[in-house]
Amino acid sequence: MNDINTALSDGILRVELNRPDKKNAMTGAMYTRLAEILAAADRDDAVRIVLWHGAGGAFTAGNDIEDFLSNPPAPGGSPQGRLTDAFIAFGKPIVAAVHGVAVGGGTTMLTHCDFVYAAESTRFQIPFVNLALVPEFGSSFSIPRRIGHLRAAELFLLGEPFTAQHAAELGLVTRVVPDADVLTTATATARKLAAKPQGALRASRRLIKGAWFGPVREAVENEAQEFAARVRGAEAREAFSAFLEKRPPNFENAA
Ligand code: COA
Repeated sequence: MNDINTALSDGILRVELNRPDKKNAMTGAMYTRLAEILAAADRDDAVRIVLWHGAGGAFTAGNDIEDFLSNPPAPGGSPQGRLTDAFIAFGKPIVAAVHGVAVGGGTTMLTHCDFVYAAESTRFQIPFVNLALVPEFGSSFSIPRRIGHLRAAELFLLGEPFTAQHAAELGLVTRVVPDADVLTTATATARKLAAKPQGALRASRRLIKGAWFGPVREAVENEAQEFAARVRGAEAREAFSAFLEKRPPNFENAA
């Protein structure tokens, strides 16, 4: 069984995260594979649009916490870094259909998408601080820029779950749709986009994202340094062990 499935039809490359028993939590191998899929899709004229979603009951529960312990990302050349680079370099629209849980990277990776449809029962969360970590995927720049500092501070520093409705109010998703309609709504948008003149579509996308590229790259570099230090620290070890042992963390002696 593949952790990521792809299928190309009528110019639309469907990319499905497929690790449903772990809520599609992303391993290093999955980040690398997704980066390779995007790089290949960028080169392939047959691919016009990427449609991204998750199998089973989740979009993704973010980074696999066990994998953090065994393969903590280092700055430069980490699987997470490769995927970030692939997102930034990708020149075609990405449409996401999100349902179930979209936690950690499950929320922050969406900042690289152009359309995000969320099932109404989706639970979003950016719990990096709770895990003794810091933001990634350039989200320390892109989310405050989109929603302002105070609202970003609430999401990043408190790290509590929030609803699809709230995500839409904040401007983190395009539209909230009934649970049963999320993939069909995203597919309909992907089809509309696939029928457009692709040169103009890609140039327009580049232009509307233009001012974003420089600062997001800078944020990615700063995040990678801080993340690599935090993920190896005593606080993070305690947070990861607590999750895996299904108990509350105790940070008192883990500073
Ligand atoms: N890493 C590793 N395993 C994960 C995971 C993650 N990020 N998210 C879920 N899983 C695993 C669970 O450990 C569980 O495995 P088990 O059946 O072997 O015990 C399985 O996926 C199902 O998850 P479960 O917690 O039972 O589902 P739930 O519906 O009660 O809760 C979440 C779903 C996403 C809210 C919860 O799993 C969670 O908080 N996960 C951690 C998310 C996170 O912090 N991600 C950010 C990483 S940067």
